[in-house]
Amino acid sequence: MSPSFALLVADDPACFADAAARKFIELLEASDRPLVTLPTGLTPQGFYRALVMNYADRRDCWEGLRFIALDEYCGLPANDDRLFSSWLKRAVLDPLCIRNRYLFDSAADPEQEIVRMQSLLEKVGPIDIAVLGLGANGHIAFNEPGTVFSSSIHVADLAPDTIKANARYWGREDLVPPKGMTLGLSDLSGARHTILLVTGSSKADVLKKALQGPVTTAVPASYLQKLTNVTVIADHAAAELL
Ligand code: PGA
Repeated sequence: MSPSFALLVADDPACFADAAARKFIELLEASDRPLVTLPTGLTPQGFYRALVMNYADRRDCWEGLRFIALDEYCGLPANDDRLFSSWLKRAVLDPLCIRNRYLFDSAADPEQEIVRMQSLLEKVGPIDIAVLGLGANGHIAFNEPGTVFSSSIHVADLAPDTIKANARYWGREDLVPPKGMTLGLSDLSGARHTILLVTGSSKADVLKKALQGPVTTAVPASYLQKLTNVTVIADHAAAELL
């Protein structure tokens, strides 16, 4: 493994959640009004529960935190339960009273919305702490395979693998919105600290490619090899090929 990564391998889901929460709090404690982005998906759920259960009273951490959305579907109404922003509000933003929120407006014209978010990020960025999940196809947020490393905030066509994976939230593949808006790989490359959360044997192969394979747009997460200050938190199943 590249020496620029710190790798924490957790023995069980509770240890994974605790390790992620502890690392995140440690970074928050060392930051002043940090700009933070957070992932959706199955992987971070225990992490969010650990934050809410163990650190909800850390108002010093939450009051100054500025949250910027990592990605969002296009074309949903503002209050749709399936928006990533709705999911994050329920799981973490509301329970921890994180009030400073920069969100994508899913219902807006996507091209105008990315221009708005780009100029917003120019004003409020760079990102201090990026917490990320890893797609089974190597994506990071909606930076799907083939996305150039220099990409800024953009509209993305969801890859067929992503649509298939996300169908579990929509009931059927053809109901999954085909387009999303996402922070780009250049925005994420500028993050001062990155925490990558990965669990399960189905991610073992792609995690190895991301961290130890060629740096290639075919595996968007391989951009992480160009960064310093990356902490990978994985379970044994995901880390078994490293
Ligand atoms: P998952 O999603 O945590 O549900 O596996 C990760 C991702 O697609 O980024």
